[in-house]
Amino acid sequence: MRRYLRIVLLCAACGFCSLLYAFSQLAVSLEEGAGGGGGKPQAAAASWLAGGGRGAARGAGSAARPGRSHRYSLKIQPVEKMHLAVVACGERLEETMTMLKSAIIFSIKPLQFHIFAEDQLHDSFKDRLESWSFLRTFNYTLYPITFPSENAAEWKKLFKPCASQRLFLPLILKEVDSLLYVDTDILFLRPVDDIWSLLKKFNSTQIAAMAPEHEEPRIGWYNRFARHPYYGKTGVNSGVMLMNMTRIRRKYFKNDMTTVQLRWGDILMPLLKKYKLNITWGDQDLLNIIFFHNPESLFVFPCQWNYRPDHCIYGSNCQEAEEEGIFILHGNRGVYHDDKQPAFRAVYEALRNCSFEDEDIRSLFKSLELELQKTVHTYCGKIYKIFIKQLAKSIEDRYNRPPKER
Ligand SMILES: *[C@@H]1O[C@H](CO)[C@@H](O)[C@H](O)[C@H]1NC(C)=O
Ligand SMILES: *[C@@H]1O[C@H](CO)[C@@H](O)[C@H](O)[C@H]1NC(C)=O
Ligand SMILES: *[C@@H]1O[C@H](CO)[C@@H](O)[C@H](O)[C@H]1NC(C)=O
Ligand SMILES: *[C@@H]1O[C@H](CO)[C@@H](O)[C@H](O)[C@H]1NC(C)=O
Ligand SMILES: *[C@@H]1O[C@H](CO)[C@@H](O)[C@H](O)[C@H]1NC(C)=O
Repeated sequence: MRRYLRIVLLCAACGFCSLLYAFSQLAVSLEEGAGGGGGKPQAAAASWLAGGGRGAARGAGSAARPGRSHRYSLKIQPVEKMHLAVVACGERLEETMTMLKSAIIFSIKPLQFHIFAEDQLHDSFKDRLESWSFLRTFNYTLYPITFPSENAAEWKKLFKPCASQRLFLPLILKEVDSLLYVDTDILFLRPVDDIWSLLKKFNSTQIAAMAPEHEEPRIGWYNRFARHPYYGKTGVNSGVMLMNMTRIRRKYFKNDMTTVQLRWGDILMPLLKKYKLNITWGDQDLLNIIFFHNPESLFVFPCQWNYRPDHCIYGSNCQEAEEEGIFILHGNRGVYHDDKQPAFRAVYEALRNCSFEDEDIRSLFKSLELELQKTVHTYCGKIYKIFIKQLAKSIEDRYNRPPKER
């Protein structure tokens, strides 16, 4: 009897394998057909299963050509949108607009902006964004600073709304799968598509990605001063935070308050109550505490994705940026607006002054280089080349190649 069972199992396994092989061949031939037909990649990814096995295979050659695909009811997947969120309070309008501009200039896939702003900023945001709507590469939604509807009253008592807004994004943007959160003082020097693609690199337990707070423990803040747990050797910085919010909403988090694991919506309040007197940097500290207890859930990306004055102010310590250039610049502590770090300010002003005209963007590099050469008396200015290395490449890729469809 047992031998019989084993044989049946073996046969089933063999059958399954050959089925898989047949399907993979099918997929390959479909892809080749699509490539040859010069179709768009989205069309190549069409769901051939929906067309029904063999029919789809025969139709592969023509599947990529628009107009004929309906016969096999191929599903053309809509282009994936990249969701970008920012929280703007106080005097941050100009800075936020410059950040959004840098996202638009280099990105390829369509962008969906989620802008959380104090009420008095809404009209200005709307005016400025409407004046860019001819670009057709982004859509936006403006939100008031708000707490999720459940327990809003209790949350209001404990959290400062502006500072903690980002913690609630997974609960407020319930329909959004994944999100890139950035501070207003971020500048993209390469397409948002490139950081967005890291989502696909998450392993099965990772739910969010951030960069370390420091590369050099001797000048690290958390490892010298924090009075609460923090992630890794030097903590993480939350100014650039990539989130798979579907996973954040599903996960049960280990914590040091109860023995049961808690959902995102249930962990924030007890955490703040416990650590209220010990935290210095607000919501970033809470994130550090959460990922201290759940380290398997964090994807750590290198410092060039969140490059701050700390990386060059006393000498260069972000090796990845030295090699490949800065990908995302983070001018924290107000360095875009004062004279403390002129290299950071020069990049900000160049992008702030830049229009969407191709000509303007192409000449961005030369004029910025001249400005940066005036900053070599500072530690950050000494290595000014890393500020423009990736930027030059991004401009080249997007604006200096023979025009493709744009
Ligand atoms: C913006 O929204 C409109 C209307 O919903 C839609 O047709 C368009 O494709 C969207 N554009 C982008 C870039 O997402
Ligand atoms: C807060 O800091 C104090 C002083 O370092 C420490 O004794 C206390 O345990 C900390 N509280 C928590 C909840 O970690
Ligand atoms: C986020 O995680 C969910 C659940 O694991 C997954 O289905 C989804 O594809 C992920 N999103 C992205 C953009 O990778
Ligand atoms: C995912 O990566 C993290 C960080 O490297 C690691 O701690 C975790 O164990 C990994 N998870 C799986 C399922 O391999
Ligand atoms: C940007 O424009 C301002 C005002 O129009 C000007 O003063 C400044 O020199 C310009 N900066 C750069 C880097 O082009």
